[in-house]
Amino acid sequence: MKVTVVGAGAVGATCADNIARAELVEELVLLDIKEGFAEGKAQDMMQTAALLGFDTRITGSTNDYSKTAGSDVVVITSGLPRKPGMTREELIGVNAGIVRGVAENILKHSPNAIIIVISNPMDTMTYLALTATGLPKNRIIGMGGTLDSARFKYQLSQHLGCSPADLNAVVVGGHGDTTMIPLIRLATWNSVPVTNFLSEEKQKQIVADTMVGGATLTKLIGTSAWYAPGAAGAALVESIVRDQKKLFTCCVSLNGEYGQKDICLGVPVTIGKNGWEKILDFGLNAEEQALFNKSADAVRNMNDVLKTL
Ligand code: 2OP
Repeated sequence: MKVTVVGAGAVGATCADNIARAELVEELVLLDIKEGFAEGKAQDMMQTAALLGFDTRITGSTNDYSKTAGSDVVVITSGLPRKPGMTREELIGVNAGIVRGVAENILKHSPNAIIIVISNPMDTMTYLALTATGLPKNRIIGMGGTLDSARFKYQLSQHLGCSPADLNAVVVGGHGDTTMIPLIRLATWNSVPVTNFLSEEKQKQIVADTMVGGATLTKLIGTSAWYAPGAAGAALVESIVRDQKKLFTCCVSLNGEYGQKDICLGVPVTIGKNGWEKILDFGLNAEEQALFNKSADAVRNMNDVLKTL
């Protein structure tokens, strides 16, 4: 199996590092436009192989897509990250051109690849990758909800004093500070609703803190986060290359599911060797569905900006 990660910045490099450490594939290519950057990071990572004991071969490439040929999965992280005070949506102008170019170049050399989109604004970049490439919808997966659900579990675990691994909790909708919807009503701690253990006030706080999870880190670090985004990308790669059919929230093309069409938005899906395979209907109540529709409106407005670029 071969995987390419495009963009050797913090998110891309962390994603690649997680893929290599877990030996998910034999061949891993890291590509970046900055001269020597991906080669350097690839070499640095390869020098951990003797210490960590993995056999994945990592190669760096400065914008030479021929090195990515025959990739089974490609993770796109390219584009500008956000700075403190910026929304993900403000990145659309620059990142749309970058993501479109990357997707086209990738497909020239890996026509059968499954594409995972991490670049922001993630929902619109996923929609762009789908519409620009014309690939079958199952092969385009936006990572956002996978990360947001992990952040939701982190917030819940802090308040419950439990292991995040014992929690089931998903964030649906958009990957934006105001468009994501942490479904606290459906979250469970080893099958017991978490709402049994948390006051209304705590629940509201957890939901609010989850929604600004990325912005909080951007403020603290000075740029966009990378450990959890990189790990989320790698978790999706794992489910594809090992055909695990794990359930994640991912941004995928909707055709009537959750009441929406002609949009890519976060919903629970199984991820396996064919990309995203099945959308699960979690039975949103009226209030949750109203939030989902509002989220879709906001993402659709953002998608409309693509027509003006
Ligand atoms: C985040 O940290 C990368 O969008 C990303 O939320």
